[in-house]
Amino acid sequence: MSVTTSPIRVALVGCGQIADAHLSQIRRIRFADPVAVCDVHPDLAYQAAVRFEVPAQFTSIDEMVETTRPDVVHLTTPAHTHAALTKKLLGLGCHVYVEKPFTLDAQESLDVLATAASVDKTVCVGHDQLFDPTWLTAKKWIQRGLIGDVRHLESVLGYPIDGKFGSLVASDSNHWVRKLPGGLFQNTISHPLYRITDLLNDSQPDITAHWRTRDDFDFPTELSVQMQGTKQTGSLTFSTDLPHQRITRVYGTDGTLDLDFDAQTLRLSRRTKLPGAFAKLEAPFQQFRNSCWNLRHNMWRFLKADIHYFAGMKTLFEEYYAHVQGRGPIPIEPDEIHRVALLMDRIFEHCRSRDDASENPMEDKSPQTSEAVSCL
Ligand SMILES: NC(=O)c1ccc[n+]([C@@H]2O[C@H](COP(=O)([O-])OP(=O)(O)OC[C@H]3O[C@@H](n4cnc5c(N)ncnc54)[C@H](O)[C@@H]3O)[C@@H](O)[C@H]2O)c1
Repeated sequence: MSVTTSPIRVALVGCGQIADAHLSQIRRIRFADPVAVCDVHPDLAYQAAVRFEVPAQFTSIDEMVETTRPDVVHLTTPAHTHAALTKKLLGLGCHVYVEKPFTLDAQESLDVLATAASVDKTVCVGHDQLFDPTWLTAKKWIQRGLIGDVRHLESVLGYPIDGKFGSLVASDSNHWVRKLPGGLFQNTISHPLYRITDLLNDSQPDITAHWRTRDDFDFPTELSVQMQGTKQTGSLTFSTDLPHQRITRVYGTDGTLDLDFDAQTLRLSRRTKLPGAFAKLEAPFQQFRNSCWNLRHNMWRFLKADIHYFAGMKTLFEEYYAHVQGRGPIPIEPDEIHRVALLMDRIFEHCRSRDDASENPMEDKSPQTSEAVSCL
């Protein structure tokens, strides 16, 4: 791939809820030039273009690509449209950044990845929390051996069902999220899942999974997944019954690392070295030093105006654009994209297999894929 230094031309398709986060992060990237936005609803395209000073807006993807010739298109449309629209954009000669979940299932992901390879274009998936400063620092600490070898990962997503994304899904039985084969989970669990797979060596660990419906809802809202690899295990909890939180805890042979993505803190607990009762002083002292580090670190980032909810998104965009320009490696390998898609399929299959067929909570409520795709 040849190296180019001219600004990268970026367009976005799908001016709904997450589009604002994309456009505001794209705007912060020095070498990105936002050239166009597109939505089937002209008002949404117009408003996004005005809010983020994007020079052109469209309701047709073909017209947008033909007129503005973007290098990269961000696809922020509903999940069931991802496969078809990504293939279309690849065919029109664009590299595509696809929001998570990459596709509806692993079969679609294989299809899209094969299309990208066949037209010599790339795709990237929105696994942005892997590029969050907290995650990047945690990985450096793990690589330095601070917690020894990773043996277990716990990933929790407390999902605010009354928040700005969740309330729309909860109040509208026809919302596209409710029609996904894995329902609410399909649209949300990529984040806690890839926060496990990034450090789990087994490509496809054994899975047990269970979903459950809260009394006050008519669709499954709670999910629990256990993963068993050769030497490592993982556990994923998604709950609408917990306060909003995005937490991952990494257990190693010499210590534990707690990552809180919202507080942007890292808590390192290492095996104490002092004997007996002295260890009871060493442990809180470690915690005190750790808290001081977090406070200093966050103060510094605050002063630099560098604390953003979607900070990982900006870094991932930058790395992907740099790759498209021939200046760096692909930030997320195609194999990893497919691996996560396959794991999601297996999680949902396992949940279904555990349900008594007559009481399958997804049976009546899960969508017909063809019906969902007809919204394209
Ligand atoms: N990374 C994150 O933290 C995060 C957060 C929220 C949503 N998401 C993901 O972003 C994607 C979109 O979610 P959302 O909540 O913004 O959805 P949304 O329903 O609010 O917006 C989707 C937009 O796409 C438009 N659209 C649909 N089909 C189109 C087409 N063929 N051409 C042009 N426009 C089209 C719709 O009109 C709508 O405006 C989903 O995959 C979701 O999982 C990611």
